[in-house]
Amino acid sequence: MTPKDLAALHARAYQHGRAWSAKEFELLLAEEPTFIINGPVGFIIGRVVADEAEILMVTVEPCQQGVGHGRTLLATYEYAAAQAGAQVSFLEVAEDNAPALALYAAQGYREAGRRPKYYKRPDGHADALVLKRPLKLA
Ligand SMILES: CC(C)(COP(=O)(O)OP(=O)(O)OC[C@H]1O[C@@H](n2cnc3c(N)ncnc32)[C@H](O)[C@@H]1OP(=O)(O)O)[C@@H](O)C(=O)NCCC(=O)NCCS
Repeated sequence: MTPKDLAALHARAYQHGRAWSAKEFELLLAEEPTFIINGPVGFIIGRVVADEAEILMVTVEPCQQGVGHGRTLLATYEYAAAQAGAQVSFLEVAEDNAPALALYAAQGYREAGRRPKYYKRPDGHADALVLKRPLKLA
């Protein structure tokens, strides 16, 4: 997917927050430790620093959600991160993002921290949960 495709999909998929521009995706992907896993209908962007992997964004086309693409992308990302030397995978997710929380829980992520009122919402705030899981090459 091109930066323009990524920005368009991001705008379609995320209900909250600001839409990212194609230029922002281009700049993010140009940063050295950052990498992308492209799937047929979604993508994951993350980075590996030393032995830690951090997921920055996971997005699946709204009309294709719920049929396993997110799970496949996540497994592919984790394998790539482990190959790059990561022993643990971290991410941050809003406490009110039920589909994402269910995906991460099913994949073995557990809560490692909480940032209260981290995300703005039209009617207040939502906490950010920091989740992590150990990685190992199969
Ligand atoms: C989060 C997201 C990537 C999940 O992708 P997906 O392709 O729909 O996920 P999958 O179909 O692989 O589902 C994997 C598991 O997640 C859970 N899940 C996915 N969608 C769900 C939903 N709408 N409600 C409840 N659980 C859900 C289920 O546990 C599912 O396992 P199961 O199929 O065995 O029941 C997708 O909903 C998305 O792009 N959301 C918008 C962007 C976003 O919020 N990203 C995460 C930011 S941290």
